[in-house]
Amino acid sequence: MHKIAVLPGDGIGPEVVAEAVAVLECLQTEYGLGIELEYGLIGGAAYDVHGQPLPEATVELAQAADAVLLGAVGGPKWEPLPIAVRPEKALLGLRSALKVFANLRPAYLYPQLAQASTLRADVVSGLDLMIVRELTGGIYFGQPRGIRKTASGEREGFNTLVYAESEIERVVRRAFDIARLRARRVCSIDKANVLEATELWREVATRVAADYPDVQLSHMYVDNAAMQLVRAPRQFDVIVTTNMFGDILSDEAAMLTGSIGMLPSASLNEGTKGLYEPIHGSAPDIAGRGLANPLATILSVAMMLRYSLQAPEWATRVEQAVHAVLDDGLRTADIRGADGVAASTREMGQAVVAKLRITH
Ligand code: IPM
Ligand code: MG
Repeated sequence: MHKIAVLPGDGIGPEVVAEAVAVLECLQTEYGLGIELEYGLIGGAAYDVHGQPLPEATVELAQAADAVLLGAVGGPKWEPLPIAVRPEKALLGLRSALKVFANLRPAYLYPQLAQASTLRADVVSGLDLMIVRELTGGIYFGQPRGIRKTASGEREGFNTLVYAESEIERVVRRAFDIARLRARRVCSIDKANVLEATELWREVATRVAADYPDVQLSHMYVDNAAMQLVRAPRQFDVIVTTNMFGDILSDEAAMLTGSIGMLPSASLNEGTKGLYEPIHGSAPDIAGRGLANPLATILSVAMMLRYSLQAPEWATRVEQAVHAVLDDGLRTADIRGADGVAASTREMGQAVVAKLRITH
């Protein structure tokens, strides 16, 4: 029996999570997948009830679970709040509490959606890359940090980019392990020409590579990587990089696939515990209207089945069901293109569930 903590959060979070839960429940009732769901509050939804975005009860629920399914956090309603109680803070706190240092963000172009990308189809078709982003260290968490007064009386803001060798090594190893299941190429991205922290990153990556003679390692500066991602994205197989570079490059990679509404993510700890979430965020402008694409969250469930529930065959079935609904021409508004009627969040979710039933 797998315990799954469900944290719908804010904005479109609850809508897309409902469809992903429907997929899990279908696997449970029709195929006997052993799961137990428990719901918790996070983000603005938690702040409204408890005065804080990450209540202790939510941390405990997530820590006791085998896997966590998260929707999204944040919205204009909570933007005026001080940073310490902003919804985004809950996300960082949860990642840190669960020690999920390896954030897997695949960018895969569904052939059915080649026309949805803003890049030419001949540049993006066949795109299939995996960004492994360090998630619990670097400048996001480094101390000291803050805003202080200088001797001359003006204010200065400061943050610290710091990486211990062990923090670099564990995430780079994870990237190499993943590359072994793919095309066996790792590109480590840094700014080693300027930043000592990433000079060390490059050195550690090179050392780890010696244990993986069957995997090819290359290095790239982050500015060049940003350019190469739009110039010739198919050159990449696995990318491994720091927290902040990974944040930026994964949004860029998402757009290569046409819609950020298609992209799942998994954040893994040393073992099999994982936090699974779509990378799109809470999209407050379309929340509550049934317009959101639930596929990123449904595909996050597929990643959960693969990485935490040790049920890769079910992961593949869910991914095949997504392929099948796209083959049928079903499209939510974000991937519809110029013509055609858009399916609602619910219709898209139900269509995936129907495919799973048929393949029974
Ligand atoms: C992401 C988001 C978060 C991040 C924000 C919401 C804190 O952009 O998951 O990529 O920067 O990590
Ligand atoms: Mg981001």
